[in-house]
Amino acid sequence: MEEQIKNIEEISIKEILNASNEKELNDIKVKYLGKKGELTAVLRGMKDLSKEQRPIIGGIVNKVRDNLENLISKKGKEFAELELKRKLEEEKIDVTLPSNKFIRGSKHPLNRVIEEIEDLFVSMGYDVIDGPELETDEFCFERLNLPKGHPARDMQDSFYITSEELLRTQTSAVQARVMVANQDKGPIRMICPGKTYRKEDDATHSHQFNQVEGLVIDKDITLAHLKGTLEVFMKKMLGEKTKLRFRPSYFPFTEPSYEVDVSCFKCGGSGCNLCKQTGWIELLGAGMVHPNVLKMNGYNPEEYGGFAFGTGLDRLAMFKYGITDMRYLYRNDVRFLKQFDQMDI
Ligand code: PHE
Repeated sequence: MEEQIKNIEEISIKEILNASNEKELNDIKVKYLGKKGELTAVLRGMKDLSKEQRPIIGGIVNKVRDNLENLISKKGKEFAELELKRKLEEEKIDVTLPSNKFIRGSKHPLNRVIEEIEDLFVSMGYDVIDGPELETDEFCFERLNLPKGHPARDMQDSFYITSEELLRTQTSAVQARVMVANQDKGPIRMICPGKTYRKEDDATHSHQFNQVEGLVIDKDITLAHLKGTLEVFMKKMLGEKTKLRFRPSYFPFTEPSYEVDVSCFKCGGSGCNLCKQTGWIELLGAGMVHPNVLKMNGYNPEEYGGFAFGTGLDRLAMFKYGITDMRYLYRNDVRFLKQFDQMDI
């Protein structure tokens, strides 16, 4: 029996040393040390041996077994190292090669303008408020001092969905919403940028555009606050040299009301084709909150006052970035959008 074991050892060692890959090595392991392996068979045959012989032969078999296992694991490591070397060589990465171009999106000029406005007003303590685009007649008109049948409703051609619901024609609807929602009826400072809709059918207007609304309610608010605020706003957006001009106007929810012009940023006020030779460009509607509006939305006009303003963001973006045609803003042409990447840095 001893001889048989020695034989197995000799042959298996040779085989192990000659194995040329991992699979072969595995097969050898199974062949000798597996459940049905040759060395395992010898161990099984030990039951026929005498008591004295059993531990002797058992010792020899275990030694051989250890020896073979060691050899196999050494050989296995060699294969693993070789394989790693091969892979490293084969999968070499040339880090100096030019990479695939990664195409990054660009922020839309309207979003740039909105973000800039939000940053400015948040820095002055305003909240940024969102309101529904599908609005009720009540909030879009009635609570803004525009009862049904009021002639000023004709100023804005509306898309009605039902007799009481419409696509909001102005972000001013959010003024009423904020006043109603403010439970303690304390001071308010908010802006609301958002989409608005009007049934315009001429070539220079879009049925959908963007506005930003501003509302401040507090004690002792005067026209000076409104003027100062709009001056900071417009100078930030269009440059420090920008001048403002307040023209008396009419809005049902403000009294007095103004249309606010900014000095033409193209010619600086001397007159050009952009400002139609007037030196001024109309950009905002504004005024002191009408006492009726305060009252209707839960504020006591004897105690509180306020100012409000609204402006078209599309026009503001066009002026700020020198965009000549509003339709560019809605075409999402990447070449157009890319131009603004360098502008705000
Ligand atoms: N909502 C008005 C418009 O769309 C603008 C405006 C806002 C006027 C706030 C006064 C106060 O024309």
